[in-house]
Amino acid sequence: MFLNLITFAPFIMTLEQEIAKRRTFGIISHPDAGKTTLTEKLLLFGGAIQKAGAVKSSKIKDHARSDWMEIEKQRGISVATSVMGFNYKDIKINLLDTPGHQDFAEDTYRTLTAVDSVIMVIDCVKGVETQTEKLMEVCRMRSTPVLCFINKLDREGRDPFELLDEVEEKLSIKVRPLSWPISMGKTFKGVYNLYEKTLQLFTASKVTVEEGIEISDIHSEQLDKLVGENYAKQLRADVELIEGVYPEFEVNDYLAGKVAPVFFGSAVNNFGVKELLDTFIRIAPPPIPRETTVREIKPEESKFTGFIFKIHANMDPKHRNRIAFLRVCSGKFERATNYYHVRQEKGIRFSNATAFMAQDRETVDEAWPGDIVGLYDTGNLKIGDTLTDGEKLMYTGIPSFSPEIFKEVINKDAMKTKQLEKGLLQLMEEGVAQLFTYELGKRKVVGVVGALQFEVIQFRLKNEYSASAEFAGQNIYKACWISSRDPKKLQEFIDSKQRHIARDKDDKLVFMAESRAWLQMVQENFPEINFHFTSEFKD
Ligand code: G4P
Repeated sequence: MFLNLITFAPFIMTLEQEIAKRRTFGIISHPDAGKTTLTEKLLLFGGAIQKAGAVKSSKIKDHARSDWMEIEKQRGISVATSVMGFNYKDIKINLLDTPGHQDFAEDTYRTLTAVDSVIMVIDCVKGVETQTEKLMEVCRMRSTPVLCFINKLDREGRDPFELLDEVEEKLSIKVRPLSWPISMGKTFKGVYNLYEKTLQLFTASKVTVEEGIEISDIHSEQLDKLVGENYAKQLRADVELIEGVYPEFEVNDYLAGKVAPVFFGSAVNNFGVKELLDTFIRIAPPPIPRETTVREIKPEESKFTGFIFKIHANMDPKHRNRIAFLRVCSGKFERATNYYHVRQEKGIRFSNATAFMAQDRETVDEAWPGDIVGLYDTGNLKIGDTLTDGEKLMYTGIPSFSPEIFKEVINKDAMKTKQLEKGLLQLMEEGVAQLFTYELGKRKVVGVVGALQFEVIQFRLKNEYSASAEFAGQNIYKACWISSRDPKKLQEFIDSKQRHIARDKDDKLVFMAESRAWLQMVQENFPEINFHFTSEFKD
């Protein structure tokens, strides 16, 4: 009776509290290093999935190169797994998926603009591979904090010291091991946590995780009993070397993107994953301030701002529906509210907004900094667009990168020219590839990171826009965005290189360089001109 009279005020968190509990990150790796497996284990810990095998791989395997249905199917899967939100120990984790296939690397680069930190997975047998090197370059550009997980310790891998040297050398980042493996492969004993001073003995295929055994002194006999005399001796020698070679771990160096803490484990055996996750939620940054064309915006500012980093279009060819992925950067996003679309200088309102929780999509009424919201769009939004509460500013740091393969678009059906133009425009807005239009003759050249993209474009133009296009190879090495402090010099350069000057989707000037050697020569001959490999730059 008495209780009925008492009204319980619901616990409402402040904006600061919402921000403090969020971690938005991506996993990067070379295909096959174990990204999908690790993702799945993280989701298991978060209770977002109940059993292994629930996360479908979003990678397109090589054998599927020409299998269009496979590509379409994968597009469907990758929408479902684009963002996986889950809670772990009171922390709201937003894991942004990145395509594994290197031909879709541009998509990965863009997704990395929407995260606050990254977990990098490296295969201990193969070491640092090319795709990881490229992705790390993008992280370095933005000083993104990186946590490194060396995977597959149940296999005979390379010497751990050698692996760490390779990471430092190839990825240009300092490392600091926080755990250390005791042997590998068939004789893999487990991992010693250098900070907690605990030993995790290796047990394969466990979903539950045992508590680590505390070893307050690695010189104690307890260690010999647990792992055997020889391995204990080796661990003692390794730890001594680590303490001598690597400086103490400083969280601030990690947050500044200068040092990557390293963990060892085996994702498929769920070994070392919990330690990784526990450390991740402790040290990874909550949503961080971000630069705009006007000023830096802090997440705790009360007014909403956010930007679009990904667009998924035409999932249903009968309806031109698209989902735009919005990263909330400050304030609170509310559904069915009028916001300001800065590029179009007009108000925009979304009655249909989606949050991503594990593999389900659910309608959301509000979202906080660090959250990703899916917005149903009918063609108003482009990658890089900023939405605000009214302020005129654009988020920066969402550049286009120079593609690596270029081909001219040849229209094969003059009756469908309009459809082709519309299709190309929409696919470019979606970020499938980049379009460059030459100043002379208005020739259109499509640039991509991987050859598979041309096949996707051709297929989708036909399937979704009834347009027929072919592609003719072009002898182009790089697209360089050009600028100069001296407008006269810039004009002189444009006049002398007319045949090689094009415009990108935002009308920015681009020099299409035919070869590395030629570009070098041009750079030497025109020292007042700046050549950039990304569309955003500071002179
Ligand atoms: P990716 O997303 O980075 O491309 O890699 P994914 O997780 O799909 O893993 C690639 C392969 O490596 C998978 O084997 C996976 O089972 C295996 N793997 C992941 N973690 C470990 C590990 O700790 N130890 C060992 N030995 N293998 C690991 P697969 O044969 O390609 O696929 P599946 O049939 O096992 O699914």
